[in-house]
Amino acid sequence: MKRILTCLVLCVFVLDEGFCCEYRNGTLQPVQRKMCEFKMKHPKPIGVLTTTAGRPVELREIVTLNSDLLGNEYLLDSMMHLTHERVPERIVHAKGTAAFGYFQVTHDISKYTKADVFNGIGKKTPLVARFSTADQNLGGPDVVRELKGMAIKMYTKEGNLDFLCLQTPVYLYTDPLYFQTQVHSFKRNPATNVFDRTVTWDFLTTRPSGLHAFLWTQSDFGIPRSYRNIDGFPIQTYELNNRKGERYYVRFNFRTEQGVRNLTEVGVTNASQDIDYYTRDLYNAIASKNYPSWRLEMDVMTSEGIKHLDFNPFDVTRLWKNGTYHTVQIGRLTLNKNPDNYFKIAELSAFNPANLVPGIPGPPDTLFKGRRLFYRDTQNYRLGINHNKIDVNLPMYAKTYVRDGVPPVNENMRDAPNYYPNSHSGPEPVVDESKPWRHLVVFEYNTVDLAPPAYFYNHVLSDEGQRQRLAEALAAQLATVTQPVQRRSLKMLTLIDKDLGRRVRHAVKVATANNAKQLRHASESE
Ligand code: HEM
Ligand SMILES: *[C@@H]1O[C@H](CO)[C@@H](O)[C@H](O)[C@H]1NC(C)=O
Ligand SMILES: *[C@@H]1O[C@H](CO)[C@@H](O)[C@H](O)[C@H]1NC(C)=O
Ligand SMILES: *[C@@H]1O[C@H](CO)[C@@H](O)[C@H](O)[C@H]1NC(C)=O
Ligand SMILES: *[C@@H]1O[C@H](CO)[C@@H](O)[C@H](O)[C@H]1NC(C)=O
Repeated sequence: MKRILTCLVLCVFVLDEGFCCEYRNGTLQPVQRKMCEFKMKHPKPIGVLTTTAGRPVELREIVTLNSDLLGNEYLLDSMMHLTHERVPERIVHAKGTAAFGYFQVTHDISKYTKADVFNGIGKKTPLVARFSTADQNLGGPDVVRELKGMAIKMYTKEGNLDFLCLQTPVYLYTDPLYFQTQVHSFKRNPATNVFDRTVTWDFLTTRPSGLHAFLWTQSDFGIPRSYRNIDGFPIQTYELNNRKGERYYVRFNFRTEQGVRNLTEVGVTNASQDIDYYTRDLYNAIASKNYPSWRLEMDVMTSEGIKHLDFNPFDVTRLWKNGTYHTVQIGRLTLNKNPDNYFKIAELSAFNPANLVPGIPGPPDTLFKGRRLFYRDTQNYRLGINHNKIDVNLPMYAKTYVRDGVPPVNENMRDAPNYYPNSHSGPEPVVDESKPWRHLVVFEYNTVDLAPPAYFYNHVLSDEGQRQRLAEALAAQLATVTQPVQRRSLKMLTLIDKDLGRRVRHAVKVATANNAKQLRHASESE
């Protein structure tokens, strides 16, 4: 036994010799140096190994062969923790990565909002950001042509302000009811657990409001060169209030200072070899002090101007028309710090668009009302009722009457009163006389306008290459769907634009012929 132990100790020691930190040669990326960096910071073991209850582990417990397993507290403790170490993955945007940074005000926008975070040129607010792909499972590939998320949580003096952005300035529908349908139809088939485009296109052709955002994602915009090369759009139209109680309606835009770039065809082939391509890129960039940044601006309409439009400015499936708004600069967001632990930050973060601050009451439409309900609901399920007490979600200041529940509870408000109203000095609400009494009531229609996707195809896409790549991406999917759904889809695309329909129809023929050839090859080689 003694000899075995000596060997174990010796082996670790021998492996150690000259093994570490070769990255000084410049051959390893920052993501590949983490263990070396730890070792350099801590040349000696950081302390005694214990169980989770704190008892020191004795060297003989690290071998269980021929031993009394139940007597080995180290085995039970570490194994039973392992088998419980997951929380449920997000229902959407499961695969992601996070970084810390700050927001700095560059322009005075007190005319539009009294929000403290945006007032005072030079003011800095710390934040966390999380980038994600929308439909992949945790552990899925980064490089897929689909929606990308850029969620931002600013820790302001008046509470957390969350912006949940996509790289497309439009969304798929205006009715929150369709979220369930869309998520199911964009994800895996219930029988096979394989992505099934018949289902996706069945949804898109029965709810064609989604085609506009879908065209964005299937074009070059769906396959960015990196997370650093996307714009971020909260999309929804927010109400803002200033100190006089006046109301404005805005769409925020985070504009990347790295430029909007996409992966070329070769780039996609190369990048998709690496399942963590975007995650690696962001980490390496920040670790190399190549800090990515975004300019925050907003498109503004006045509460009078908003009444004289020939389109619904709250409709997330369309862009605002030219000439109906003006654009105002706000500030700059910079990401300058990688988390020291992925799970603690990226996995336990809970972004909720309903986390708003005084001066930004938020969007008044039905979709947002749905979002107010369901982010909270899913986070209660995923992280528990105390998810805002988890470090990464903790606001700078909070005093409440809520208590207890599944941990963390932190201080749990100690001995303060837990009922309201009370006459025992519990926290009191503030008075804000500038909060408007009037509310805008938005009446929405579910008719579908195909002009916005036609505008996208003809004007946002700016050359034949971009249109052809979009057509080929759509065709690659449509070559794999059933005939009735394919016919309906081609018809719908033709209704949007004749040239788009023609291009995709042709590309589907090519793709179908190629697929057939591959099938023949496969059966001949059997
Ligand atoms: C303008 C429309 C929308 C935008 C811009 C948007 C954006 C996002 C983003 C960026 C995330 C990822 C957050 C993260 O990194 O943790 C996310 C997650 C999510 N979204 Fe949305 N979304 C929209 C519409 C909706 C709607 C209509 C619903 C439901 C009614 C919804 C439900 C969810 C849920 C349940 C999650 C997962 C949250 C979690 O597990 O923490 N979203 N959304
Ligand atoms: C790093 O440099 C050392 C010393 O020059 C050399 O022995 C080692 O092979 C190099 N490692 C790599 C991965 O190039
Ligand atoms: C995508 O990248 C290619 C190659 O850099 C470029 O030609 C094309 O215009 C880009 N597409 C968009 C929509 O910017
Ligand atoms: C793709 O990978 C090959 C081989 O590793 C490399 O030579 C080429 O430069 C890469 N191309 C792009 C666009 O990344
Ligand atoms: C709207 O404005 C943008 C930016 O000035 C311009 O590129 C675009 O062509 C305009 N679209 C229309 C339909 O006038």
